[in-house]
Amino acid sequence: MREDDAPPATVPCAPGRLPLLGHLLPLLTRPLPFLQSLADHGPVVRINLWRRPVHVLTDPELVHRLLVKDAAKTEKGFVFDKARGLLGNGLFTSEGAFHLRQRRLVQPAFHRDGIRRYAALTARLAAAAVSRWEPGRPTPIEPRMHELARDIVVEALFATRLSDAQKARIDRAVPVVLTGFVQRALYPSTLLEKLPVPANRRFDTAVRDLRTTVDEIVTRAAVRHQGPDGTLLSLLLTTRDEETGLAMAPAQIRDEAVSLLLAGTETTATTLAWLFHELARHQGLQDELSTEVRAVADDGAVSLEDLPRLERTGQAISETLRLHTPNWILMRRTVAPLHYGGALLPPGTEVLFSPTALHRSPQLYPDPLRFDPERWRRPRNPARPELFIPFGAGRHKCVGESFAWTEMLVVAAAVLARLRLRPATATPVRESATAATVRPRGPLLIAEPR
Ligand code: HEM
Repeated sequence: MREDDAPPATVPCAPGRLPLLGHLLPLLTRPLPFLQSLADHGPVVRINLWRRPVHVLTDPELVHRLLVKDAAKTEKGFVFDKARGLLGNGLFTSEGAFHLRQRRLVQPAFHRDGIRRYAALTARLAAAAVSRWEPGRPTPIEPRMHELARDIVVEALFATRLSDAQKARIDRAVPVVLTGFVQRALYPSTLLEKLPVPANRRFDTAVRDLRTTVDEIVTRAAVRHQGPDGTLLSLLLTTRDEETGLAMAPAQIRDEAVSLLLAGTETTATTLAWLFHELARHQGLQDELSTEVRAVADDGAVSLEDLPRLERTGQAISETLRLHTPNWILMRRTVAPLHYGGALLPPGTEVLFSPTALHRSPQLYPDPLRFDPERWRRPRNPARPELFIPFGAGRHKCVGESFAWTEMLVVAAAVLARLRLRPATATPVRESATAATVRPRGPLLIAEPR
């Protein structure tokens, strides 16, 4: 009998459900252990966020099916409904035919010539960041990486530099926006968004500041634009609608820019912060990577063509993306019936999965909590299922993946060639999964010149 012919099984409900709240408490207080524990209850498990049922996929094969084969039977889901209202209809939030059109438009900014240019400017900005690092002084690595990633994305995609006031506004706004839109999606009623409490005011101000700042960046860059130059902004400014011949509306250009700024800074910044945190704890590996980098470029200024030779550094980044996968939750909503794990998910079912939890599954990655770049060197085991989706999969797969890889390798090379990193304290670093990504909570590193 085919799976579709079998009577649908009942989806088990995760333990620990409370009246009214559902599973909100474990999801907010210990999100990653909670999501990891769901695999013990089946391939599809129901949780409740307030009264809203959400189906969690714990089976890698089902996750892959959802993202790739069944992509046309899904839309992005309730968190993105909320995000769209707040952050606009850029690539990160849009759906269907509109998404496809915008994606085709944006994609050329990530072709090889663009990436080569971005690699050069990343090397320049990373070298400047390294030279500002005060030797011997405990330095919080996470904000440093956020500043660097923000400057790289803005300069690469919009060919402009930020004023200090704009930098400060973006740095204040981005974390509030990224935490706030997830929290708002979890409010049981939209009435709560209107309450004049500090959290709501902070969030509204942050969204306004972000939009205004991005408008300023885009307007300034548009005034200086001299004609097609391959940057993203140039593509957005010069494109014409195939049917109407009209240019893209300024509000849509702003939405795309907000999308890329949000999607492109936090993710690379947290991954780099985790990478340097891990390397500070693994001195032997750090030395090995430093030697690898210096064999390619003594001062660490590597180009796009050099990157394939940074094999061990790439393995350390893969391992960071596995163990500290930034996007700890991704979501979809079904628009057609899906039969998953024997259960029927009717249209309108909210579906969630955790790339971070899946990457920590012992069935996929033995001894999963160990930081072990060696696992990317060993030949693959055909008997073991595989899933590695830090950049997602299918039609919404990260459009900035090659940009991100280039950026992370170039920044790693700049740091490893010139600095030796060690932890400033023995306090264990905890993970915080309250925003859109899993961030390390406050690692302090000390750098010494090599
Ligand atoms: C380590 C770095 C990064 C990681 C781990 C990452 C991860 C992801 C993931 C998992 C998705 C898919 C979301 C979904 O399926 O719902 C995504 C989409 C996206 N990412 Fe990234 N990303 C990274 C860097 C970047 C960069 C550097 C940019 C741009 C400069 C970027 C721009 C985007 C955009 C615009 C989307 C939406 C794509 C679409 O729906 O067509 N990302 N990213």
